[in-house]
Amino acid sequence: MPSSHRSAKDFFRPLAVGAPTPPTEIPARPSRAIHFFDPSNAKMAAKIPQMVGSVDVLLGNLEDAVKADNKLAAREGLVKIAQETDFGPTQLWTRINALDSPWVLDDLTTLVPAIGHKLDVIMVPKVQGAEDIHYVDRLLAQLEAKAGLEKPILVHAILETARGVANVEEICGASPRMQGLSLGPADLAADRRMKTTRVGGGHPGYLVRQDPTGSGEDAINAERTTYQQDLWHYTISRMVDACALHGIYPYYGPFGDIADVVACEDQFRNAFLLGCVGTWSLHPKQIAIANRVFSPSVEDVTHARRVVAAMGDGTGAVMLDGKMEDDASLKQCLVMVDLAEELAA
Ligand code: GLV
Ligand code: MG
Repeated sequence: MPSSHRSAKDFFRPLAVGAPTPPTEIPARPSRAIHFFDPSNAKMAAKIPQMVGSVDVLLGNLEDAVKADNKLAAREGLVKIAQETDFGPTQLWTRINALDSPWVLDDLTTLVPAIGHKLDVIMVPKVQGAEDIHYVDRLLAQLEAKAGLEKPILVHAILETARGVANVEEICGASPRMQGLSLGPADLAADRRMKTTRVGGGHPGYLVRQDPTGSGEDAINAERTTYQQDLWHYTISRMVDACALHGIYPYYGPFGDIADVVACEDQFRNAFLLGCVGTWSLHPKQIAIANRVFSPSVEDVTHARRVVAAMGDGTGAVMLDGKMEDDASLKQCLVMVDLAEELAA
């Protein structure tokens, strides 16, 4: 391909004059499934070494879902697992406690010196604005320097407050450590006073109804087909745009109904199609769903490669299978081809 072709990576970088300076390179690699485990749960922790290689990210969770009485055990459990496990190609992340909690300082001051060399990314919950990222960034810089770490630990923010959503662009650009953002639908629903009690996913009441075919009250009141809508479309779209602007990765978040693998796959796919690169996994069976959904299909990649080949120097328009392809559709296809190559690497 001629060098004048830009890769899809270029489209994650701000091109406009005056746009914020992006990190010098795209941070970390995309990761389809971020599998959460509770390091204070000995049974769960014992399974972690066997999961290495089968999932892109293993995340030791210290925040919500870990009981207050278990915070210390979770932190110590994570240190032990990290010290004893060779993670190979799997990244090790942690979710620390919220910045307004009594546990977060101990989380950072314990984890960085003990296992900072093994931690790829720290996920920060309930991020409200750039100031939260600045705080973590500074503290990490001090702790890394003290521990003599050579590789900076990256930061991932969870978007789960209304204020965080309002400040999403500044959060993404707050530090070159920023690796990505996840949606936190449960906390966000509560903070916004939405009326869903589910952890992610849809709601049968959030729907549109087909127009009546006739006129008059009977027709208006007749049963008509309804279509459930995606409750998270707006926030995911905002998140994707902010991440694209700053060259970092957007992720969906948790899907709490573990038994409903069909709706889980739908939610993950909606996020993938809108631009997300991955999601959380709360149960091993969600890993397989995430790996499948967040990898472009063979058909899509084959088609994308045909368009790239047909477009020659990348300019002008060609007809392929009766459809018009041009410079813009070539860029869409490069996104697919690049992702396939990144995941295969
Ligand atoms: C995740 O942390 C959520 O609140 O959904
Ligand atoms: Mg949350």
